[in-house]
Amino acid sequence: MRSIDYDTEQYQDYARGRAVSQRQQQTWISAFEAVLPERRPLVGLDVGSGTGRFTPALARAFGPVTGVEPSVRMREVAQAQSQHPEVRYLAGSAEDMPVPSGSADYALMFLSWHHVQDKPRAARELARVLRPGGRLLLRANFSDHHPRPWWLEYFPRGYEADASIFQPLHEVIETFTSVGWRVADFGTVTEPSAGTLGDMLERLRLRTLSFFAQLSPEELEVGFRRLEEAVAAGPDAPAPVFAEPLLTLELR
Ligand SMILES: C[S@@+](CC[C@H](N)C(=O)[O-])C[C@H]1O[C@@H](n2cnc3c(N)ncnc32)[C@H](O)[C@@H]1O
Repeated sequence: MRSIDYDTEQYQDYARGRAVSQRQQQTWISAFEAVLPERRPLVGLDVGSGTGRFTPALARAFGPVTGVEPSVRMREVAQAQSQHPEVRYLAGSAEDMPVPSGSADYALMFLSWHHVQDKPRAARELARVLRPGGRLLLRANFSDHHPRPWWLEYFPRGYEADASIFQPLHEVIETFTSVGWRVADFGTVTEPSAGTLGDMLERLRLRTLSFFAQLSPEELEVGFRRLEEAVAAGPDAPAPVFAEPLLTLELR
C-alpha cells in the first residue's frame, strides 16, 4: 500500500469526505455495545482517532475516552471539531501510547490498523494498556473478507486495488493471538445509507480514502468519469448499503 501522510494530505477534507450521520454513528455504537461489558463507565481508547469522528460518541455511550493520534493536523481538527468534556486527544500511535499500563477497558481502532507500521509491537502495546479481559474493537478490512462498496466497481482494478491494502483475516488474528489475545467475536455491521448517490459522489471527489492513493491518474480519471455517468442517471437515489467487518479481540 502507498502509505498516507495525514499531516500533508487528507486532513483538510477528511471530516467532510468521511462524515457519518447520527444514524450511522448510532449503528456503530450499538455494534460496539453488543461486544463490550454492560458496566459503566468504561474507560476507552480511540487509537488512530483521526478527526474524532467517533470519539465523542464513544464518550457519550460508555465513559471517558482518550483519542491517540499520530498526525498533528488530524489532532488539530479533532480538538477543534470533536470536543466532549470526557474526551482528550493525545499524540501517540498504536505502537506507543502515552497512557499507563492496564488503564483502559477497551480500545477502538476504526480503519487505522492498516496504517500501523509495526503490527507485532502494536499488538503488544494494546495488550499493555488494556486491563485483563479488556476488548479491542478492530473495525478493519481484510483482503479475504473485503466489503464491496457500490462505487468501487466503477474504478479499473477497483476491488483488487482496495483489497490489496489489507491483510488476510488469519494473519491479523495470528498477530494478536501470538501475544495473548483471543478472538471474542467476528461479524459485519451494515450502516444505514450514507445519503444520496449525488452526495456520495461529492464526498468521494475529496478522495479521503487510502484507496484513491493506490490508483494511477489514468485509473482515477476513468473511474470518476464512469461513476459520474452512473450517478447522473439518478443522483437523488439513496446510496446502496454494504456490510463492513468488525473483529473483537479480548485480552486473556
Ligand atoms: C482512515 S483514518 C481513521 C480515523 C478515525 N479512526 C476514523 O474512523 O475517522 C486513519 C488514521 O490512523 C492514523 N494512524 C496512522 N498510523 C497510525 C498508527 N501507527 N497508530 C495509530 N493510528 C495511526 C492516521 O493518522 C489517521 O488519522
